[in-house]
Amino acid sequence: MKKLFYLLLICLILPAAAFAADKEKKNGYIGSESCKSCHEEIYNYFIDSGHPFKLRKAELAEASGFPLPTGYTWDDISYTIGGEIKKMRYIGNDGYVITAAKDGSPLKTQYNILTGTWSNYHPGEVKPYKCGPCHMTNYKPEGNQDGKPGMIGTWTFDGIECEECHGPSSLHVANPEAMKPKIDTSSAACGKCHIRSDKNTIPSKGGFIRHHEQYNELLGGSHKDLGCVDCHNPHAKVVKSIKVDCASCHEDVAAKYAKEEFHGANKIDCIECHMPKASKSAVAEDTYVGDTRTHIFVINTSADYSMFDDKGKLTDAKLGLEFSCVGACHKGRDSKWASKKAKGFHK
Ligand code: HEC
Ligand code: HEC
Ligand code: HEC
Ligand code: HEC
Ligand code: HEC
Ligand code: HEC
Ligand code: HEC
Repeated sequence: MKKLFYLLLICLILPAAAFAADKEKKNGYIGSESCKSCHEEIYNYFIDSGHPFKLRKAELAEASGFPLPTGYTWDDISYTIGGEIKKMRYIGNDGYVITAAKDGSPLKTQYNILTGTWSNYHPGEVKPYKCGPCHMTNYKPEGNQDGKPGMIGTWTFDGIECEECHGPSSLHVANPEAMKPKIDTSSAACGKCHIRSDKNTIPSKGGFIRHHEQYNELLGGSHKDLGCVDCHNPHAKVVKSIKVDCASCHEDVAAKYAKEEFHGANKIDCIECHMPKASKSAVAEDTYVGDTRTHIFVINTSADYSMFDDKGKLTDAKLGLEFSCVGACHKGRDSKWASKKAKGFHK
């Protein structure tokens, strides 16, 4: 009888133990906090970048001191979107992006960080939060996160955590030598999210290139063979992310430029002319100054060339002098004036 009991016990315990060991061996998502102890420098860069805070729970947003749309309290909000770089939007308790006042009347519900102003966001429309593929870690299109009807899809972590780029890494955390997370240095890996519609076009609207299409812009020009990480540290916010000077690849031009009497001598950065703010995310500063730098680098020096047509659509993947020269610096001049100075600029 006793023997039978032990036999039964073994029969029950062995498969359970094997199952537990199997579970330990299975690689899963573990979260960026687990990476901190061994990759502290990278973690510190990353936590300061926009990636991890793309979506923030209301408690976290309130603690960050974010403003609220008129008439709303934090009890009406489940999440905020963005808020690190240019703009922020709000999600209600039903999971839909807020597009009107609580009573349904018109209200500006997008907060613009740089100007401290509010803009319309699809006023009055029903806007499900179906933005997860580009904002989240381990996004799955099925289901509704938190069971909220407006939240389309489910995900493991809010925002873009280490493992969205490096893949699930729990086995690596348990034993770094045994398993290496993946690394993808292609521009397509960033282009999974820094893209808009078809990668072979550069969508534009109202006289500006639209935001989150750095991949489209890059592919449209002379830098199409470069990876984003040839220039950017992928872990850092943009102002801390630039690893190389333009001069490191364009030695000859840079040497000539350093001797140029006005711009060069005053150390005006290459990007002021070659990456002007021809894109817009939140609010344009002026007719020819948006709020986001473009990755179109080549300048068309013709006086007759306009970057955008009458309908505000991009005409060609080249910068116009109205953006490179007139917009931010030579206000009051025109392309005709600029063209004379721009032709053969580095010769
Ligand atoms: C216990 C310490 C430890 C933890 C925790 C840890 N790592 Fe690592 N990681 C290492 C070590 C050590 C290496 C270098 C391994 C080598 O090159 O042999 C490494 C290498 C890497 C690499 C480079 C792999 C390669 O092919 O060069 C990536 C990417 C990485 N870790 C990501 C992560 C992520 C993401 C996390 C958190 C989910 C994490 N690590 C947590 C110790 C750790
Ligand atoms: C899963 C989608 C996703 C991937 C993959 C991704 N990004 Fe991003 N990236 C975003 C989002 C969303 C933001 C905006 C974050 C915010 O709201 O603050 C962002 C912000 C940034 C910024 C900050 C912009 C600023 O003004 O500070 C840089 C730089 C950047 N990404 C570069 C990269 C690079 C380089 C890669 C590839 C190694 C990459 N991203 C991959 C979605 C992604
Ligand atoms: C937006 C995508 C993205 C995110 C988020 C991201 N990484 Fe990376 N990581 C990369 C890419 C791309 C490279 C390769 C960079 C290169 O070769 O220039 C890399 C390289 C690494 C490396 C090896 C090379 C090095 O720079 O030392 C480690 C380790 C690493 N990442 C850890 C992490 C950890 C830990 C986190 C989160 C705290 C993280 N990464 C978040 C894209 C990302
Ligand atoms: C194809 C990928 C993609 C989709 C889909 C997408 N976004 Fe984004 N979003 C990005 C990237 C990348 C950035 C940052 C780079 C940029 O703005 O140029 C960004 C930036 C933002 C920002 C500004 C963040 C900040 O800190 O300034 C907000 C707000 C935002 N997105 C809201 C949304 C909403 C709401 C949706 C869905 C209705 C959505 N996005 C869908 C990729 C995407
Ligand atoms: C990693 C190397 C690298 C870096 C960094 C780099 N470039 Fe380039 N650039 C190239 C290559 C390669 C080409 C294409 C070949 C050529 O025309 O020289 C190119 C082409 C160009 C062109 C077009 C040249 C033409 O005649 O069509 C411009 C303009 C330009 N780069 C400006 C810049 C600026 C401004 C920066 C800094 C923000 C920069 N580049 C950083 C490698 C680089
Ligand atoms: C030739 C170098 C180079 C390449 C390649 C490159 N970038 Fe950039 N990027 C820059 C520079 C320089 C800036 C401006 C930095 C500043 O404002 O100080 C910038 C700015 C940005 C910004 C912030 C724009 C703004 O004003 O808000 C984002 C986001 C970004 N890059 C993403 C990417 C992505 C994604 C790729 C690949 C598809 C990429 N970059 C490829 C050099 C490069
Ligand atoms: C004051 C504006 C301005 C600044 C600053 C500037 N450029 Fe240019 N750059 C131009 C113009 C305009 C052209 C087009 C000249 C032409 O087509 O005849 C040009 C052309 C180029 C070209 C194409 C090849 C050539 O020789 O025409 C490269 C590469 C380039 N610039 C790189 C750089 C680099 C690198 C820096 C910084 C060291 C820089 N530029 C700073 C205005 C500028």
